[in-house]
Amino acid sequence: MNVKKVFVVGAGFMGSGIVENVAAKGLEAVAYDISQQQLERSRKGIVRSLEKQVKKGKISEGDKTEILSRIRYVTDITECSKADVVIEAVAENKDIKVSIMKEIEKHAKEEAIIASNTSSISITSLGSVFKDPERFVGMHFFSPVPRIPLMEIVRGYQTGQRAIDIASELGEYLGKTCILAQDEAGFIVNRMLIPMLNEACILVERKIGTIEEIDMGMKKGLNHPMGPLELMDMIGIDVELAVMEVLHEEIGDPKYRPAVSLRRMVDSGFLGRKTNVGFYVYNEDGTKYPNPKLLELR
Ligand SMILES: NC(=O)c1ccc[n+]([C@@H]2O[C@H](COP(=O)([O-])OP(=O)(O)OC[C@H]3O[C@@H](n4cnc5c(N)ncnc54)[C@H](O)[C@@H]3O)[C@@H](O)[C@H]2O)c1
Repeated sequence: MNVKKVFVVGAGFMGSGIVENVAAKGLEAVAYDISQQQLERSRKGIVRSLEKQVKKGKISEGDKTEILSRIRYVTDITECSKADVVIEAVAENKDIKVSIMKEIEKHAKEEAIIASNTSSISITSLGSVFKDPERFVGMHFFSPVPRIPLMEIVRGYQTGQRAIDIASELGEYLGKTCILAQDEAGFIVNRMLIPMLNEACILVERKIGTIEEIDMGMKKGLNHPMGPLELMDMIGIDVELAVMEVLHEEIGDPKYRPAVSLRRMVDSGFLGRKTNVGFYVYNEDGTKYPNPKLLELR
């Protein structure tokens, strides 16, 4: 594989996972964020994740040190000039992504490909800001990135075959099965997943079941590893709302209209695991209990 260095823009939940995955596979990884605090949070999270793997005997203490030595944290975007692949993983907001794309294009080397990890925003529309849109492709990872073995490669109308080939080769090198999706909102997986998650919110609003019963239903009844409400807390309620808004606007079908409670939760700061409160409240010792504020609804 010719890719040796990957530059990741945005060191939040997904960016951190991508950086860890890249470094664990022996490649150089650079994490960039506008927030120094977020970079520090990312660094601590990756150390914690690797320590867990050492405890479980999956990697050695030496592996951990080597993986960490392959990661750099920067607040200067011009450093993307040495990367073979630049992956954008900032907030799910088109304006922010477009301004970042313009910056990346100024500094990335000509032969580098540029990818977005967007869950819902059109790759064609993001690619339209580039002088050379052929180099731009969707690389949609799933969370938690180091453990989930799937990547959607998204072809925008102007994406070139070279970008698809390099993205697929990198995805497979990172341990993912790559599936190719055309550029329609939600691609393949979110197109199916989002209505299910939205329906779970509506069940909570209508008290059809308790928070725990709704999750239990999907875990025991359909063998899902996590319930839909647990999954939303992991993904981030703000991210879910942003994705649903794009799907609803683009597809128009009312089944994509975000449940009212999602907006209320974002306004309340109930963003899921990232704020320790979502559908559940998360204790420091790793235990959790249903959010009493949501139980008081109606
Ligand atoms: N959360 C998921 O499970 C998931 C899954 C697949 C794809 N995605 C997509 O990945 C992207 C990131 O999601 P996330 O969950 O990691 O979000 P997040 O909120 O955890 O992280 C976003 C990061 O972007 C940074 N950021 C914001 N503006 C920036 C700028 N102008 N320059 C540099 N950094 C900036 C923030 O400081 C933050 O660290 C979104 O497009 C989302 O749709 C998320």
